[in-house]
Amino acid sequence: MRIDIITIFPEFFSVLDVSLVGKARQSGLIDLRVHNLRDHTHDRHHSVDDTPYGGGAGMVMKPEPWGDAIDAILTNVQTAAAPEVDLSTTDAPPAGVPAPDAAPLLIFPSPAGELFTQAMARELAGESNLIFGCGRYEGIDQRVFDHFAVTGRVRLVSLGDYVLNGGEVAVMAMIEAVGRLIPGVVGNPESLVEESHEDGLLEYPSYTKPSAWRGLGVPPVLLSGNHGAIAIWRREQQLERTARVRPDLLPPAN
Ligand code: ADE
Repeated sequence: MRIDIITIFPEFFSVLDVSLVGKARQSGLIDLRVHNLRDHTHDRHHSVDDTPYGGGAGMVMKPEPWGDAIDAILTNVQTAAAPEVDLSTTDAPPAGVPAPDAAPLLIFPSPAGELFTQAMARELAGESNLIFGCGRYEGIDQRVFDHFAVTGRVRLVSLGDYVLNGGEVAVMAMIEAVGRLIPGVVGNPESLVEESHEDGLLEYPSYTKPSAWRGLGVPPVLLSGNHGAIAIWRREQQLERTARVRPDLLPPAN
């Protein structure tokens, strides 16, 4: 998967050099490129924001640098995805050429966006090109979203009902959630199945050795070797925990 990030704080993303995403980049599973929005400004001060039309507090990000930055990435993605093909030798599309519907998906983190969920992470993990635009200040001029939605795909996505100072932290969270679902990124794919939210419930509590620690034991069923009983206990724990902590995740009772 190719991921492009546009930001005024490129240094934020150096953490994506480490951990699972860092390894996935090294192995070529994720091609991640960070772009500085200020490289697409044309004034002496490299300004990216201005006062809002209609008044109000704060500043709004100007459309021109965003337009130029996104255009540059779209051109580069198209060029990279179109290797020279000798049409005289084959009718079949060559491997690596995306389907016509695989235009890059533009994602703008925003508290005004649709909620980011595990289901959305799974959906995004099936994309071949993601472009994340990190807004700051009071947000980005609406025309940037409207313009690119005419010819492409644009989604505004929120991490939750709270306000961050900018999109960078949200993009980092989304890349971590999406990246680990790309086949090959997580060593043992079975571990993905048993996690919170994968089956709509919170995960069951986990224990490891030693069997006694600071006066606390391990639920005896886990030491029983009875795999059927363990599976039932874990399911009960998932249901109990979800009902207690996140009842909103359970289907409504009739
Ligand atoms: N930018 C500011 N707040 C945000 C949020 N809650 N989710 C995503 N992006 C944001």
